[in-house]
Amino acid sequence: MLWRSSFLTAVVPLCFASPIFPRWDDLEVKHAWSSVPRNWISVGLPPNGTTIDLRIALKPHREDALVGALYEVSDPAHEKYGAHLSKEEVATLVAPHPDTVELVHAWLGHHGVPASSIRPSYNGGWLTITSLPASQADALLGASYQVYRHTETDETLLRTVEYSLPVDLHAHVALVAPTTYFGGPRALHRTSRLTPTAKHLLAGALDDPPESPTTVSSSCAGMIVPSCLQALYNTGSYTPTATDQNTLGITGYLQENASQADLTLFLSKLMPDAATADFTVVSVAGGTNDQNNPTLEASLDIQYAESLAFPTPTIFYTTGGSPPFQADENTPANTNEPYLDWLDFILAQSDIPQTISTSYGDDEQTVPPDYAQTVCSLFAQLGAQGVSVLFSSGDTGVGDDCVSNDGLNTPMFLPNFPATCPYITAVGGTTGVNPETAAGLSSGGFSNYFARPSYQDTAVSNFISGLGTQFSGLYNASGRGFPDISAQAENFIIVIGQEPFLAEGTSCAAPTVSAIVSLLNDYLISQGKSPLGFLNPLLYSTGAAGLNDITSGSNPGCNTDGFSAVEGWDPVTGLGTPDFGKLQAIVG
Ligand SMILES: *[C@@H]1O[C@H](CO)[C@@H](O)[C@H](O)[C@H]1NC(C)=O
Ligand SMILES: *[C@@H]1O[C@H](CO)[C@@H](O)[C@H](O)[C@H]1NC(C)=O
Ligand SMILES: *[C@@H]1O[C@H](CO)[C@@H](O)[C@H](O)[C@H]1NC(C)=O
Repeated sequence: MLWRSSFLTAVVPLCFASPIFPRWDDLEVKHAWSSVPRNWISVGLPPNGTTIDLRIALKPHREDALVGALYEVSDPAHEKYGAHLSKEEVATLVAPHPDTVELVHAWLGHHGVPASSIRPSYNGGWLTITSLPASQADALLGASYQVYRHTETDETLLRTVEYSLPVDLHAHVALVAPTTYFGGPRALHRTSRLTPTAKHLLAGALDDPPESPTTVSSSCAGMIVPSCLQALYNTGSYTPTATDQNTLGITGYLQENASQADLTLFLSKLMPDAATADFTVVSVAGGTNDQNNPTLEASLDIQYAESLAFPTPTIFYTTGGSPPFQADENTPANTNEPYLDWLDFILAQSDIPQTISTSYGDDEQTVPPDYAQTVCSLFAQLGAQGVSVLFSSGDTGVGDDCVSNDGLNTPMFLPNFPATCPYITAVGGTTGVNPETAAGLSSGGFSNYFARPSYQDTAVSNFISGLGTQFSGLYNASGRGFPDISAQAENFIIVIGQEPFLAEGTSCAAPTVSAIVSLLNDYLISQGKSPLGFLNPLLYSTGAAGLNDITSGSNPGCNTDGFSAVEGWDPVTGLGTPDFGKLQAIVG
């Protein structure tokens, strides 16, 4: 066999030992849950003939190359700051060693997987196998794929509680998916909810004249409209001009629908200058957008992103795979992985929006560590290419269901993923005006999967030393702290089905901050400069002076008062809320 002879004649020194005669039957567990994840029950084996599209993340030849390059181009103090990478350059950095590719192909060949069903993906760092019979996936991975049903949502997923790889492949493969991540589209959480409000109190809300965009009105303490955010975050009279180049992306999952008619009503009442704003719908993995059936999360995201960033072109990515799932003979349950589907799509594009906002997340501990690490490096690929990727931090304070899921029920605060990924910017929540304080719902804390990145060393260790022994044992002092930045997250007026509603959640904050980042990107691009790309090294250094530090309030949860917002960084509001005018002066 070709691969075998090439091993025997290899002259390139290898950084890892490649086996000459791999023992494909010698399996070692790659990831296993101690029990079926909470709220899921097995409803049995999939019918004969069921197939899966299996994705295999290969370890890059140079492990730290991508992240090293990401930090160089994102650190304002580095000579390569702003020199973002092309798709091709990223592909070189994430490329596996040729022996890795050969070995994985040999393993797949050994199991009779036809080469024609295997294609490279994610800039060449992964292999995707199309329509693999579930029985063959079981054999490859020593797994038992079963149909699992969510006890509350009735969503069904095809997953396995454990999977293995041949011992000889562990050094070469980072992740296989879908396997143990029970994060079907419906298991993701939106980070928004409606605020219960008497309907009559909102009846006139859309008829009030817009607030001043330059002076923070006291009414903003009770109800947020776009002009409150313009005044609070000092976007002043800035009007984007680089609209032929700069784009803002909003991701949608869970069959969320955004309506043009609602956007138009919202803007015509509350931001008349932007009343002509529209958005482009891009469908990913069969996503749909029924404009006649508008829903909370998508409406909130689109209405606030557009009102603040107008006339910047906006794309709504609707990623599919959500129930009601069409169970057919070959796919009785959902095999989609929401982030991976979207990332597969976006990383293949030649033109990617410079700013992308996402308002969904999961408890970190429900995401397998290998999945979280691998998906997080895909976000790093976006950052290296000059994309600012922002996620809402979550709406559960320090946590709501505060024990470990490893069978030991250890009390602990619960961080959220992807907010804990060190290569994205996590957005927490504030409330009130003069002064803004932390919103109690604002999720924040410390990752148990990702170590503290060096860009936040000073900020986070200052906070932790101020904390002393409080909460010790409940959080991981060596983990990546989140959120990074914050914005208003309560009492947002939105329009759904031509009627006003009040919304809350860090889903209010993420599109707000993203729109302001998009304005900064517009400004830079209009000056012939690079967009901001990955924001955090900037925010934690020179950028901090362009943020309003939030120093009161806390994020209760787990029967505690939660962390407190203090001077400097804190795991409630991050470094604070943006001041566009100041940031513009800093980055310009
Ligand atoms: C599925 O295949 C197995 C093995 O070939 C067979 O024993 C079983 O009866 C089949 N089940 C169905 C529902 O066709
Ligand atoms: C969005 O619209 C589709 C089609 O009408 C509908 O099936 C779906 O339930 C809607 N989304 C939500 C979250 O309600
Ligand atoms: C704490 O975080 C570190 C760094 O990410 C990690 O290696 C360690 O396993 C975490 N500890 C716990 C108890 O999760």
